[in-house]
Amino acid sequence: MMMMMSEMWKSRDLFFSFVVLATFQLAVSDGHQPLSIVAIHKTTLALDERAYIKATPNVLGLTGQNTEWVTLQYSNPKPNVEDWIGVFSPANFSASTCPAENRGVDPPLLCSAPIKYQYANFSSNSYKTTGKGSVKLQLINQRSDFSFALFTGGLTSPKLVAVSNKVSFVNPNAPVYPRLAQGKTWNEMTVTWTSGYGISEAEPFVEWGPKGGNRVKSPAGTLTFDRNTMCGAPARTVGWRDPGYTHTSFLKELWPNRQDQQLPKGLLLQELMKYIYKLGHRLFNGTEIWSEEYQFKASPFPGQNSLQHVVIFGDLGKAEADGSNEFNNYQPGSLNTTKQIIKDLKDIDIVFHIGDLCYASGYLSQWDQFTAQIEPIASTVPYMTASGNHERDWPGTGSFYGTMDSGGECGVPSQTMFYVPAENRENFWYSADYGMFRFCIANTELDWRKGSEQYKFIENCLASVDRQKQPWLIFLAHRVLGYSSADFYVAEGSFEEPMGREDLQYLWQKYKVDIAMYGHVHNYERTCPVYQNICTNKEKHSYKGPLNGTIHLVVGGGGASLAEFAPINTRWSIFKDHDFGFVKLTAFDQSNLLLEYKKSSDGQVYDSFRISREYRDILACTVDNCSPTTLAS
Ligand SMILES: *[C@@H]1O[C@H](CO)[C@@H](O)[C@H](O)[C@H]1NC(C)=O
Ligand SMILES: *[C@@H]1O[C@H](CO)[C@@H](O)[C@H](O)[C@H]1NC(C)=O
Ligand SMILES: *[C@@H]1O[C@H](CO)[C@@H](O)[C@H](O)[C@H]1NC(C)=O
Ligand SMILES: *[C@@H]1O[C@H](CO)[C@@H](O)[C@H](O)[C@H]1NC(C)=O
Ligand SMILES: *[C@@H]1O[C@H](CO)[C@@H](O)[C@H](O)[C@H]1NC(C)=O
Ligand SMILES: [Fe+2]
Repeated sequence: MMMMMSEMWKSRDLFFSFVVLATFQLAVSDGHQPLSIVAIHKTTLALDERAYIKATPNVLGLTGQNTEWVTLQYSNPKPNVEDWIGVFSPANFSASTCPAENRGVDPPLLCSAPIKYQYANFSSNSYKTTGKGSVKLQLINQRSDFSFALFTGGLTSPKLVAVSNKVSFVNPNAPVYPRLAQGKTWNEMTVTWTSGYGISEAEPFVEWGPKGGNRVKSPAGTLTFDRNTMCGAPARTVGWRDPGYTHTSFLKELWPNRQDQQLPKGLLLQELMKYIYKLGHRLFNGTEIWSEEYQFKASPFPGQNSLQHVVIFGDLGKAEADGSNEFNNYQPGSLNTTKQIIKDLKDIDIVFHIGDLCYASGYLSQWDQFTAQIEPIASTVPYMTASGNHERDWPGTGSFYGTMDSGGECGVPSQTMFYVPAENRENFWYSADYGMFRFCIANTELDWRKGSEQYKFIENCLASVDRQKQPWLIFLAHRVLGYSSADFYVAEGSFEEPMGREDLQYLWQKYKVDIAMYGHVHNYERTCPVYQNICTNKEKHSYKGPLNGTIHLVVGGGGASLAEFAPINTRWSIFKDHDFGFVKLTAFDQSNLLLEYKKSSDGQVYDSFRISREYRDILACTVDNCSPTTLAS
């Protein structure tokens, strides 16, 4: 059984004797990952000598790039509309990697899902009649070579007709897809990236320094995880793919950014305050392997009064620029959102992606593709993540919800591939200071109710901020713990997750949280400043003085297919949009904040409000938030 594809061809007959038993339980949850429709474990052989599929070029990334288009040409003497092309990586996809789940049972012929697929007729209308076609697909460097296979029989009962030549990036192990995140202190930036170099092959590091200044090298730590750390299928079975190595380096004692100041000769000081960095691996024979050069700006000191821009959204997901994996139109807004944020990047300082990151849902190849998609953003500004159901949930593993939404990942890839400044990255809750902001990031996939460990964290995060210096207090979480008019909540007679705000609303009120934002519901909605369902402020666009409650926003329209609103109008809901978009917060100073909701299709603002207030307005008393007083004088 331990054979490679080429050998399989030669001994084709042998394979017809295989009984393909569906020993692989495919966990297909609500989300329907596009790859989940491919019943790869049911593959049978229908190899045809006259059929072929050819890929060009053979070698990718000759000029150092990590993304390249390949052209496929193929022919099938017995074409069918349902014929499709699977992209496999490693190229030697075969029974050789199929574990037999039970002794005495033959493993299936194929047991690794394609990393993407496309219909044979996608850009060849006449394929159905002529059996000839060609298509261009985009590949990214993901540590292995690639091959392409032509299947008939549709996605659900695939029959392998032909396999292509192998193609490969010049250096499949190259360091790729850097993602920044704030460290545990304000003046530390973490750089996390992926490579094919383990610690026994090379030493990972970041070479960095201020633009025009001296560069230093900082070491990086290396993590990986194996199949056994996955909690179930498909992550443990057909969806498994070697994740390579995740490296993180901690760049410390950064000099805070400064406000734009014109220098003589029209140079921006801010430009000078940028840091340049490059990822490196030193092989043990002395050779150094380098990534390209990237830049970032250090974060402001907590309380620093300067212009600060924050972008927040949830549920971005990923999509393929070449149109592949279109089944279910899984995350139709993803590329538009990514594009608009990249377009506005010079006016964005930090990004929060609050859960449901890439919806790999157990198909691990998708994590590379996601980190490649967001690279222009994440390599330039801190890309802060939160945990969502699609990262964490799996029955019987301690997730608060027992759904199968993580496809067996049970949090491992997200906790490993993205750094967050959490005390315990497994818990995924943390606080982040950014200038005049304090963010408290919760993890709705673990218990948050009073008495839980997370509740203590949330209270401590909200209570430990100096509001005179960091007046803008923001609560972030994946599922809606506040308010949403989503049809699926309303159908349950509710406007939130069960027990969502039951305990937390006292904390938000007591600690005067200004804004709380959630994803999970794939649309946009804004409430009035609200407490216990009651609007505490009648204003809609220009808040002055105390809010007296918290403004809740649903910002889950990052990319995944949209969610419906229930046909109901509550008093607290003051703006709804059934479209893809994201939110941008701008703090002008300690007294003025602007929130804008932008659509991903055109980047224009469709909803906004301002808060103008002074320190005494934060101290002001209203219901349930006054400190006790004494009569003594
Ligand atoms: C292309 O293939 C898909 C999938 O089988 C099918 O739904 C579609 O109708 C085909 N289009 C054409 C133009 O044949
Ligand atoms: C398939 O390729 C991968 C990496 O390219 C390699 O690690 C593995 O040993 C190969 N398997 C076989 C059976 O050749
Ligand atoms: C070091 O090893 C790499 C990878 O094996 C090889 O490509 C390179 O030529 C070697 N360099 C030297 C100086 O031997
Ligand atoms: C993406 O943006 C384009 C251009 O603005 C727009 O036509 C398209 O409808 C958008 N896609 C989605 C799914 O919103
Ligand atoms: C906020 O609450 C205080 C005290 O309850 C009240 O006096 C004030 O009018 C409220 N502000 C607004 C804008 O409703
Ligand atoms: Fe979600």
